[in-house]
Amino acid sequence: MKSFSIASGKGGVGKTSFVINLAYALAQLNQRVLIFDADLGLANVDIMLGFAPKFDIRYVLNGVLSLKDVILKTDYGFSLIPAGSGASELTHLSNQQKLLLRAQMEEAFSDYDYLFFDISAGISDNVLFFSQLADERIVLVTPEPTSMADAYAYLKVAYKNSKIRDFHIVVNMAKDVGEGKKIYSQLLYVTEKFLPETRLIYLGVLPYDECVKKAIKLQMPYLKYCENSRVSVAIKEIAYKLLNYKGKGVELERFLERFSTL
Ligand SMILES: Nc1ncnc2c1ncn2[C@@H]1O[C@H](COP(=O)(O)OP(=O)(O)OP(=O)(O)O)[C@@H](O)[C@H]1O
Ligand SMILES: [Mg+2]
Repeated sequence: MKSFSIASGKGGVGKTSFVINLAYALAQLNQRVLIFDADLGLANVDIMLGFAPKFDIRYVLNGVLSLKDVILKTDYGFSLIPAGSGASELTHLSNQQKLLLRAQMEEAFSDYDYLFFDISAGISDNVLFFSQLADERIVLVTPEPTSMADAYAYLKVAYKNSKIRDFHIVVNMAKDVGEGKKIYSQLLYVTEKFLPETRLIYLGVLPYDECVKKAIKLQMPYLKYCENSRVSVAIKEIAYKLLNYKGKGVELERFLERFSTL
């Protein structure tokens, strides 16, 4: 199993739409994929897909159901652990809740090839917790200077607080690949200068495309709604890249071992 956290620092840069479409693309490549909606309190993976799950992570954290019980198998070929929206008590997980999750993860995750944590914006305790939990991090950035600044802030805090060094970078909402690569180079320049211990890995560029907004309104993946659009071609390229990326995919046991030390 390979696990990735999707972070950005700044909100609204496209993390949730990225993770949904990446999961769908990998499912089409016969991969078993699970999305963990870790934007606890402001969850919206389910809303973006038009699901109304009966159960969500709150049932697990309150000790009513097990993690495996709340996994929703979707028609898109991937599964989802939904989080409840508007549950302010989830914006900061207690140590006991973290332990509760740990106790149930082996059973819940063992059937999957890929696990994606869609984490919230910002640099809160939950963000750092889920960032550290995954084997690898994917950071989304857009060409806006505020997004660049917040992505850098995330990289800095993730390194300083959690000693995370490697980050995959995706530039979203770029005019074209050229602009996306320029943004990546700028981020690389700043991190090489001020955070030389970290390593950025270029993962890809997703263009700005109106069909993303239309697909969200229709509550479906853009990869289904506009399969041949530039953005869909680009997300499929990223899915292929991940499939061929050997990376640090770790055994579930080691994943759980690391979790127990958080
Ligand atoms: N490639 C794209 N082209 C055009 N619009 C996009 C693209 N990606 C995302 N968007 C727009 O950005 C909005 C925010 O996307 P999304 O909800 O996925 O971001 P997020 O980072 O998960 O936000 P939050 O931080 O609130 O969780 C979407 O509603 C969509 O309109
Ligand atoms: Mg989101």
